[in-house]
Amino acid sequence: MYTLRIGIMLSVLTITTVRGDNMNGTEDVNLMSNKNNSTNVSAIIENLLQGYDIRLRPYFGGEALHIDIDLTVASFDSISEVNMDYTITMYLNQYWRDERLQFSDKSDTDYMTLTGDFAEKIWVPDTFFANDKHSFLHDVTEKNKMVRLYGNGSIAYGMRFTTTLACMMDLHNYPLDMQNCTVEIESYAYPMQDIEMHWRGNTDAVKGIDKVELAQFDIVQWYPGERIERLVTGAYQRLSLSFLLQRNIGYFVFQTYLPSILIVMLSWVSFWINHEATSARVALGITTVLTMTTISTGVRSTLPRISYVKAIDIYLVLCFVFVFAALLEYAAVNYTYWGAKAKKKRKRKMEEEAADRARQEQEEGYGDNIELQEVRLSPILSLRNKQNFNYDCNDGNVRISPSTYRIPTTVPRASYPVRGHPNLVRRKNPYGFQKRKKVITNIKNKAKQLKEKIPTIDDVNQIDKYSRLLFPSLFIGFNVCYWTYYLMQKTT
Ligand SMILES: *[C@@H]1O[C@H](CO)[C@@H](O)[C@H](O)[C@H]1NC(C)=O
Ligand SMILES: *[C@@H]1O[C@H](CO)[C@@H](O)[C@H](O)[C@H]1NC(C)=O
Ligand SMILES: *[C@@H]1O[C@H](CO)[C@@H](O)[C@H](O)[C@H]1NC(C)=O
Ligand SMILES: *[C@@H]1O[C@H](CO)[C@@H](O)[C@H](O)[C@H]1NC(C)=O
Ligand SMILES: *[C@@H]1O[C@H](CO)[C@@H](O)[C@H](O)[C@H]1NC(C)=O
Ligand SMILES: *[C@@H]1O[C@H](CO)[C@@H](O)[C@H](O)[C@H]1NC(C)=O
Repeated sequence: MYTLRIGIMLSVLTITTVRGDNMNGTEDVNLMSNKNNSTNVSAIIENLLQGYDIRLRPYFGGEALHIDIDLTVASFDSISEVNMDYTITMYLNQYWRDERLQFSDKSDTDYMTLTGDFAEKIWVPDTFFANDKHSFLHDVTEKNKMVRLYGNGSIAYGMRFTTTLACMMDLHNYPLDMQNCTVEIESYAYPMQDIEMHWRGNTDAVKGIDKVELAQFDIVQWYPGERIERLVTGAYQRLSLSFLLQRNIGYFVFQTYLPSILIVMLSWVSFWINHEATSARVALGITTVLTMTTISTGVRSTLPRISYVKAIDIYLVLCFVFVFAALLEYAAVNYTYWGAKAKKKRKRKMEEEAADRARQEQEEGYGDNIELQEVRLSPILSLRNKQNFNYDCNDGNVRISPSTYRIPTTVPRASYPVRGHPNLVRRKNPYGFQKRKKVITNIKNKAKQLKEKIPTIDDVNQIDKYSRLLFPSLFIGFNVCYWTYYLMQKTT
């Protein structure tokens, strides 16, 4: 039993020691040849790093070090107009040769693949992204880095990271725009005399772009470029990768353009509604104006506060103007309608007054004073009788109004001779005929007025009628101009 326990303890010990060996096996060594030689490779590596100065670049003091770079795009994550940047995840590989790390004469293994920790023990280029805002190396489950050491001293150094790169966008043609976003790669410390960077195999250097899917953009074109960047500290070799991104209009067609067009068309419905339906037409006008405001607010929230005018601004503002004009058109219709009505009313009143006056004058000219007085008397006579009755009831000088006062003075003089006048009967007949004639003329007048009234409605409708044609044709014209201009711009 005791020996068993010792045996267990021993096995545990051996396991731990084995683990310890693995853990401190200097570097994670992945051998091509068999495991028997592992101690031997460890020895090789130890040997390589013996007297290796990490601070000095390969060929220090001599010729420039050539660094080849290749890049694989893993994903194109997002493009932000508000921040003027885009986020991209990629694999970046750098290749160079460090003669101090040759091991072909010591071992016949072709290459050793080591983990990223090994990079901390050897010299690596200080490559950086000139337009980088924020980047991070992925470290799940371990740091996404690798070093591959070849027997002839060549090194491949790779890593996977996500970076947010600045991309100044020109939004004049937004959303019918094309953006040129770049990846700028450069050595931070070493100028051209020390380091020369190149794309590894030019266009072959960039891979994975064909598989990239972007929600709002299409990558129309991409090309790697090289140029010399002259700064205060010297001339640096810079590699750049340009992406030509074309925005997909589809989203905006369904989210902005189509709703705007429909709202503008909705505002035209007003022209077909009777102009006397004030509440309906005003409500329609105001609703469409407010909806246009909402649409443009939604568009603006996804964009930075740029001072210049964008293509979508022009469209939305013009749609707003159309909708607003439709509302104003109703104001014009309403104003002219009621204005005309008031004028007509005034005119009719004046005409009536004139007719009255004319009638009076005519009547005055037609009969003599006696007859006129007869006309005037007929209602007054009863009044006078009433007055008399009142007078009788009360005793003497009771409330004599001016009219009642006047009546006794005029009437007795005028009426009594008429009563017995034989001519009166003869003269009363033409008066009745005159009355009938007057009624007929009145009806005729009324009919005339009614007739006049109908054309006025037609007149008001004239504005609506013209608007029905003018607004859609103007809108179509504007759309044709807008789309031809911006689509031409897009293709060039
Ligand atoms: C590595 O492991 C050996 C035993 O296998 C041990 O003697 C040595 O101290 C360890 N080295 C380190 C750095 O842990
Ligand atoms: C080395 O390899 C031989 C066979 O090739 C094997 O018998 C031996 O056990 C190995 N040694 C070690 C330490 O793994
Ligand atoms: C170990 O490496 C040497 C060459 O360095 C090779 O000849 C030998 O066969 C290897 N050992 C084993 C056990 O395979
Ligand atoms: C590697 O192992 C071989 C034998 O397998 C030996 O001859 C050689 O010296 C060893 N190399 C080193 C650097 O230890
Ligand atoms: C070093 O070896 C690798 C792999 O064998 C090869 O691809 C590369 O071109 C070599 N480099 C030089 C400088 O010879
Ligand atoms: C994109 O930008 C890069 C760097 O600013 C420039 O070299 C390239 O000519 C531009 N491409 C286009 C199509 O404008």
